[in-house]
Amino acid sequence: MARLVSLGALLVAIALASASPRVPPPPEPEPIEIVELPLPPVSANNATGSCNLSINPRGTGCIAQKGGGSDTKTIGIIASGDFLPDGKHVITMATFVGAPEHPDPASIYDGEQILLIKTNNSTFPNGDPWKCLTCGMPADNAPHRTALLDYPQAFADGKRILAGDNIIDCGEYDLTSVECTPTVTYMYPIHWETSLDGEGKGGALRELRLHPDDIHLGFSSFNFINGQLGQSAYFARLQFNPSPEKGLPLGPRYDLLSVTRMVEPNAIPPISVKDGQVIINRDYISVGELRGFSGSGKEVIYVGFGWESSNTDAFAVHLQTGKIRRLTSHPEYVDPIDVSPDDNWSVIEDTRGTDRQMFLAGMRGIPPVTDLVSTRITTATRNNGPRRFFQPFLVDRYGDRGDYAGQKINGGPGVPGSGDIDDPEWNAMADPRWSPHGNEIVYWQAQTIFPECGGPNPLPCYPSKAPGGRTYRLMLAKLVSRAPKPYPPVEEASDEIPWGEPYIRGSVPNARGEPPQGVYTLKGKAAGYAKVSFAGAGNSASAPIANVAVTYHNFSDGKLTYTNGYEKGLAFINGYENVTLEFLSATNNLIHWYSDLVQTGQDGFIATKKTSPDGFHLNIDVTTNFFNASGTLTTTVNDKVYKQPLNAT
Ligand SMILES: *[C@@H]1O[C@H](CO)[C@@H](O)[C@H](O)[C@H]1NC(C)=O
Ligand SMILES: *[C@@H]1O[C@H](CO)[C@@H](O)[C@H](O)[C@H]1NC(C)=O
Ligand SMILES: *[C@@H]1O[C@H](CO)[C@@H](O)[C@H](O)[C@H]1NC(C)=O
Ligand SMILES: *[C@@H]1O[C@H](CO)[C@@H](O)[C@H](O)[C@H]1NC(C)=O
Ligand SMILES: *[C@@H]1O[C@H](CO)[C@@H](O)[C@H](O)[C@H]1NC(C)=O
Ligand SMILES: *[C@@H]1O[C@H](CO)[C@@H](O)[C@H](O)[C@H]1NC(C)=O
Ligand SMILES: *[C@@H]1O[C@H](CO)[C@@H](O)[C@H](O)[C@H]1NC(C)=O
Ligand SMILES: *[C@@H]1O[C@H](CO)[C@@H](O)[C@H](O)[C@H]1NC(C)=O
Repeated sequence: MARLVSLGALLVAIALASASPRVPPPPEPEPIEIVELPLPPVSANNATGSCNLSINPRGTGCIAQKGGGSDTKTIGIIASGDFLPDGKHVITMATFVGAPEHPDPASIYDGEQILLIKTNNSTFPNGDPWKCLTCGMPADNAPHRTALLDYPQAFADGKRILAGDNIIDCGEYDLTSVECTPTVTYMYPIHWETSLDGEGKGGALRELRLHPDDIHLGFSSFNFINGQLGQSAYFARLQFNPSPEKGLPLGPRYDLLSVTRMVEPNAIPPISVKDGQVIINRDYISVGELRGFSGSGKEVIYVGFGWESSNTDAFAVHLQTGKIRRLTSHPEYVDPIDVSPDDNWSVIEDTRGTDRQMFLAGMRGIPPVTDLVSTRITTATRNNGPRRFFQPFLVDRYGDRGDYAGQKINGGPGVPGSGDIDDPEWNAMADPRWSPHGNEIVYWQAQTIFPECGGPNPLPCYPSKAPGGRTYRLMLAKLVSRAPKPYPPVEEASDEIPWGEPYIRGSVPNARGEPPQGVYTLKGKAAGYAKVSFAGAGNSASAPIANVAVTYHNFSDGKLTYTNGYEKGLAFINGYENVTLEFLSATNNLIHWYSDLVQTGQDGFIATKKTSPDGFHLNIDVTTNFFNASGTLTTTVNDKVYKQPLNAT
């Protein structure tokens, strides 16, 4: 059962008060109006011809009813969706079903397609509030396109869209114009030359994010290090190549030039040892998953190695200076994020408010040492299979602090099954996006559907109240107190990232350095110390670290600000944690966790983090994200108790 609490009840959020004294007080909540954007009608039945003129009298197609559930189940998923530079249209990807057979003119409304949706209640000349850009595109216009069309993003020229690892190009025409028809629309794949001889298909790109200068691209690519699935992030210049001479495809494509791997080749890793001491390097640029760029394009936004144990946060790093900013610090899990055109705000999608991760991260100020072995599994607790627990929040540039944990954009806490904008069974999906004028945000949501509700799951399934029983929806948040601002000019980024590693064809990323096995001391920044033991799997001296055991002695990393009404002084951690990772496969991990921590502060403040006597054993495959635990891990903060989710919920 999802544990959904009101925002008011939420906040154990504590900001590490080491933040700069120049941090201004948090902003007051602002008025936000939410409207649902129109989508094509739904055909519940995907049989050929089921999308007939009764459902769509204009014969412009139907989209699938179910979907949006997951990255792995693609039926009906929409992937929203950036604004076009005019701020009046958003791009989305949807799956059309039920098209009649060729030569019926409606036969083109089939499969995954890229659409433009009007955001201002107006329509295209045919009367639809949407236009399918790719439906009916002649195969000859896209002979080498790939199947991937996710995270569609607009180029500032209004004529091109990045969709998956393809670029959709309407030539001289604005995408919204009547002249931009499928026959003048082309789709070109993006090629990353990775082989030594330049031949072959090139590297696989995922999670592509366009830089706002329209010229550079950020992306991620999977790798296998020590037998485990991982990924690295890259930055490159996009260049159209009308007639490549080598590499596949041998047709018009975009090439990636001046590719940089976003790692600091010689940096001290986030956890290292020196002279018997554990060193925590929070200046390490740990671009775990690249999430995009700031509005000005000066910073890369990413989910990185945590600054506190089991607490997944978003960070920004300056492309030139390498200076890091922590954008969020709330214990819950953040992932999709977009920074406003003026760089002063983020819209994040986060599990905050659901208490899903608090059992792991609710005690603040634990240094991220067990995370050397636990991150893969703690981050994977964020979903229940395809079901996400995200809602969109507006956070200012200075991030979570004091009572401020951002403003939930879509009201709340909401009534499950109501279908209202704050229905907690409608969860936000990647990515949210700012309008170019900084006064609107678009996001999309998917409803929890069987088997993540119903059947043996204690969460009931609620019928969808969306048109046609659709289980996904596209939402526009209007920040009505903000005047639309002109889109700030964006400077062209340099090809070079001084702190990065120029990519060499054929090279594979190095494993992030890890400390040698042994027993060390970690000094608290403010008080006390911890004894830290790093050991290999099966106690093998040569194996990668698989066990981290830490015993805390009056440990404190600094002053904490708690959000339950007043500021406290230092809080001190005593007790131990002992965490062992077992690799079941490249993606499937089992963790054995023993904790008995107590944190005490002034005025009777007390937090505990304890496992059951038999320990807490959690198995999650990162490709499916089903929570499967035996034993318990519970965090309490004063009288608030945070328990783990039930298995498979
Ligand atoms: C149509 O729906 C059925 C049942 O949900 C599914 O198995 C099938 O793959 C769908 N076909 C298409 C073309 O989406
Ligand atoms: C469309 O399909 C439905 C369901 O099969 C049917 O009841 C309806 O008559 C059809 N409409 C047209 C215009 O063919
Ligand atoms: C909506 O935006 C279009 C530009 O795409 C503009 O021409 C039209 O006047 C706007 N309509 C309304 C109702 O604001
Ligand atoms: C369109 O207009 C209707 C009626 O005025 C309003 O309820 C709705 O919120 C508007 N939609 C958008 C996307 O602005
Ligand atoms: C962004 O925030 C800074 C510091 O709070 C402020 O000086 C600046 O004017 C803001 N920029 C915009 C465009 O509002
Ligand atoms: C913990 O450290 C603080 C600050 O140094 C000190 O005042 C306090 O006496 C210590 N407590 C114990 C039990 O050592
Ligand atoms: C950690 O726990 C394991 C049992 O899971 C035990 O073998 C090991 O000795 C413990 N490590 C420390 C340093 O206590
Ligand atoms: C749950 O994890 C255990 C290992 O702790 C494993 O044996 C079992 O097969 C897993 N169950 C599921 C449904 O994955």
